[in-house]
Amino acid sequence: MKISPTLNEKLATVQRVCILTGAGVSAESGVPTFRGEDGLWSKLKPEELASFEGFMKNPRNVWAWYNHRKEIMHSVEPNAAHYALATMESFYSEFTLVTQNIDNLHQRAGSKHVLELHGNIERSYCMECGKYFTDITVTEEASVPRCSCGGLVRPDVVWFGENLPEYEYKEAIRAASNCELFFSVGTSAVVYPAAWLPHVAKQHGAYLVEINMERTELSQYVDELLLGKAGEILPYVVECIKKVRS
Ligand code: OAD
Repeated sequence: MKISPTLNEKLATVQRVCILTGAGVSAESGVPTFRGEDGLWSKLKPEELASFEGFMKNPRNVWAWYNHRKEIMHSVEPNAAHYALATMESFYSEFTLVTQNIDNLHQRAGSKHVLELHGNIERSYCMECGKYFTDITVTEEASVPRCSCGGLVRPDVVWFGENLPEYEYKEAIRAASNCELFFSVGTSAVVYPAAWLPHVAKQHGAYLVEINMERTELSQYVDELLLGKAGEILPYVVECIKKVRS
């Protein structure tokens, strides 16, 4: 494995780093990704499971799917990529980890400052009164949770066609605009507005690095493409950082 002398120099000298992660970062933990041959969207329909219309049509179906995914996410552990990112955080004065993942694995690995652009599977909220819940359990009998006000409760995740959470998106744009070094890791970089972030960083002068198993739509714009598993490349990047910053 090798990184360029330019990236090594950046790792040594920069103060402001921003990272965007996607499903590929959790793949080595056993959480399925969305696209590609084995991706969730090759077997399931996003318009049924990840849209407001789909939820209103069949909330029971959507809740069953989120419950199933929650069980998977509870049964897995963070992998070397998550731990490497948590370690990286301690080396830089401004380090922003922006994730499209809803699985909590960055936080479980010890990352402190995580901006969740697509929500979090542990949370849900009432569509009537806005009350938040972190303890919703779906069962056969109670397959569609209701709030005490009678309102329908939905997962606190972003579905297709919905806006990103305002604070998180604003902070992510701010971090991407200000950073000197940006990593796009394990994302196909096709879902906007998250996929703007690497472009925003580059437009503002950041050195743009992509880590992915394969080329993506972003690859043609990056300064450096590191092809391979995030769980192998990121620990190597951390070793490089330790050598130049300790
Ligand atoms: P995708 O499934 O679109 O892309 C996952 C990416 O990770 C692909 O480019 C893979 O090549 C790469 N990958 C897989 N395993 C990897 C590994 N071990 N190391 C490095 N890279 C690896 O997932 P996202 O880009 O996260 O949104 O998808 C973005 C959004 O689309 C998701 O947040 C979700 C989905 O629909 C919503 O549900 C709103």
